[in-house]
Amino acid sequence: MLMRPRRLRKNQVIRDMVAETTLKREDLIQPLFVKPGKGVKDPIPSMPGIFHFSPDTLAQEAHELWNLGIKAVILFGLPEFKDEVGSSGSLQDGVVQRGIKSIKDNVPEMLVITDVCLCEYTSHGHCGVVREGRVLNDPTLEHLVKQALSHAMAGADVVAPSDMMDGRVRAIREGLEQEGFQDVLIMSYAVKYASGFYGPFREAADSAPQFGDRSSYQMDPRNWREAIKEAKLDEEEGADILMVKPAFGYLDVVRLVRDNTNLPVAAYNVSGEYSMLKAAVQLGWLDEKRCMLEMLYSIKRAGADLILTYFCKEVATLLG
Ligand code: PBG
Repeated sequence: MLMRPRRLRKNQVIRDMVAETTLKREDLIQPLFVKPGKGVKDPIPSMPGIFHFSPDTLAQEAHELWNLGIKAVILFGLPEFKDEVGSSGSLQDGVVQRGIKSIKDNVPEMLVITDVCLCEYTSHGHCGVVREGRVLNDPTLEHLVKQALSHAMAGADVVAPSDMMDGRVRAIREGLEQEGFQDVLIMSYAVKYASGFYGPFREAADSAPQFGDRSSYQMDPRNWREAIKEAKLDEEEGADILMVKPAFGYLDVVRLVRDNTNLPVAAYNVSGEYSMLKAAVQLGWLDEKRCMLEMLYSIKRAGADLILTYFCKEVATLLG
């Protein structure tokens, strides 16, 4: 035999030398949930190791992450009140806005990303304005712009619209330009599927729709060509980073988007992907360290530059 591929797998040193994919702390983004109050650190039952924080404890968590080498977080808010149009999402003293300031006051270099969407702030739990049982596109845009601007004003470095309304990236980009926030980045949830794997998140963020589902705005899991269309549109509209979500079940889509843009590609290793592994580990059915790394390497191998994942602390600790 002339070719013996096993020669390159002979020992750990050789395997590390020829490894084609790397996982770095710099690639990782930790999602954090912030709610009103003081001294709060409440565990989220369906997501072991993940908590609800108040703005003060949020900064402590950011500090811990920073010390572990995790330099970016994405914030989700649980507001004081909800209404039809999600107005609590754009208050200057809203919970996310206070969270941003608290992190920036304590860990100024931390890259703060904010999720921009209405579902956490609306009484009906949909990501847009609802009239007669329908989620309306264009009337939603002004609310998204307002929310994104309020995050920028509070000091956010990156806004991440996750609503899937058409034209929202352009609207937000124009809003930021007009108000002098031309340096604020947009990481758009460009390719976001209507996925059952958001289940634990919706419990954590109290954002489940009160009627119907999100299929009239989020993408159909059966589609892949549509992913290229969505990614291209958001790029044209002024996005800086394109995200695919979920990640692990959609590795083909991550690769497709990677091959069709020159922008950085992020992939969201969502709550259900996290909880599924945690549950199997608790049952003794899977090895956590091994499966976690395999999951994240797979996402990198598919072409993601950045990964949003609830495993940040565990990975950072493992990387030594
Ligand atoms: C808000 C939003 C969701 C997630 C991120 N932003 C939920 C949804 O679209 O219903 C899901 C994140 C996760 O599952 O980890 N629109």
